[in-house]
Amino acid sequence: MTSHFPACLRGCITVPGDKSIGHRLVFLSAIAQGNSKIVGFPPGNDCQRTLQLVQMLGINAQFNNETLEIEGAGLAGLKNPKTQINAGNSGTTARLACGVLCAQNFTSNILGDKSLSKRPFNRVVNPLSQMGASFRTTQGRLPITIYGGQELHGIDYTLPVPSAQVKTAVLLAGLFAEGKTSVREQIRSRDHTEIALTNFGADIAIAGNTVKLSPGKQLSSGQWEVPGDFSSAAFFIAAAACMPRSDLLVKAVNLNPTRTGLLNILKRMGANIQVEPKNHATNGELTGNIRVLGSKLQGTDVSETSLVSMIDEIPILALVATQAEGVTTIQGASELRVKESNRLASIIDGLRALGAEVDEIEDGFTVRGGKKLRPASLKSHGDHRMIMTWTIASLLVEGDCSVDHIDNVNISYPGFHKTLQDIVS
Ligand code: S3P
Repeated sequence: MTSHFPACLRGCITVPGDKSIGHRLVFLSAIAQGNSKIVGFPPGNDCQRTLQLVQMLGINAQFNNETLEIEGAGLAGLKNPKTQINAGNSGTTARLACGVLCAQNFTSNILGDKSLSKRPFNRVVNPLSQMGASFRTTQGRLPITIYGGQELHGIDYTLPVPSAQVKTAVLLAGLFAEGKTSVREQIRSRDHTEIALTNFGADIAIAGNTVKLSPGKQLSSGQWEVPGDFSSAAFFIAAAACMPRSDLLVKAVNLNPTRTGLLNILKRMGANIQVEPKNHATNGELTGNIRVLGSKLQGTDVSETSLVSMIDEIPILALVATQAEGVTTIQGASELRVKESNRLASIIDGLRALGAEVDEIEDGFTVRGGKKLRPASLKSHGDHRMIMTWTIASLLVEGDCSVDHIDNVNISYPGFHKTLQDIVS
């Protein structure tokens, strides 16, 4: 990215479909009865991995022009994959697949790339094993063998760490189990699975932070629309919020409150953000437009409770904190160590390379804003969200920065650099 210092973002954009929703709609459409159509299916590599996975399980599916058509095989219709399943970089693909595959009458194997092979899987293996499933892991990581042919039974499970992937894996297995499954969370994680299961006609009930699923009903197919991914939009929203003269409109983006915690934090920091909820997309997800004007920001404190609804936005918030007056503190963020990279380390090292004042604290860090940043060679560790964070950082620095492995942006957002070029001035 050529230097635009001091940059601002102006214009109107849309972002690709939501990755989390995309994964769920593929899994559920594959085990529903009849044909489903998913409009705005995300083009990024992660969702394409989930699509390839269900195709390996015998599902007919075509992806053309952002629309995915899937022929559902019903709850008992998946077939034995002929080879190992490669989930690539996608934790959501692999963890949700564990929930579906452990309930089949065949054995399957999942592997992943270097980053995914370092990430923990006992968090899904443990509750699924309590349901009667059988796995062999590589010291709690991928590659994993999932032994089919087990009789599953429902469980009452309280999540030890907030994780929508774990919640979803247990609920997916619960669709195939004998008896009710319930999942309780201390802090509510993203609820796309609950919304999608309701829309596919599953028998679920939600009370507070507990989801109860009764199995036995076939899922029905349908037409679904995927709203823009808030986590992709977040890079532009946060950047515009801290760049004076910015005026950015993001259209048709998902506004599910279990995802948009960053907006509350930015507003608390003094950002000028207007949210216009439009209506419900066909899959029951709140969607609308967000307008952001650049302003002067103040530092703030982010606790573990608010982190869950902005877990993927911490890298960009940390960068914004360098532009705010005073100190920003992020606490209770140990989950960031087990994302696509060790994001706590990636953030702290990168911000220090940029000359920001950063202190590491237990499970988090503090940033003292207001210091002029300097050019740096920024390491993304191949992590798509770090690539986008450091690309935005390069607009906040006088002089040239470099960011490595930028092609990995395709994991969630293939058009990111082009969209940024279009709105930066
Ligand atoms: C996701 C849940 C979150 C998030 C990830 C996508 C999902 O992970 O970080 O990018 O789609 O369920 P955890 O479940 O590990 O918190």
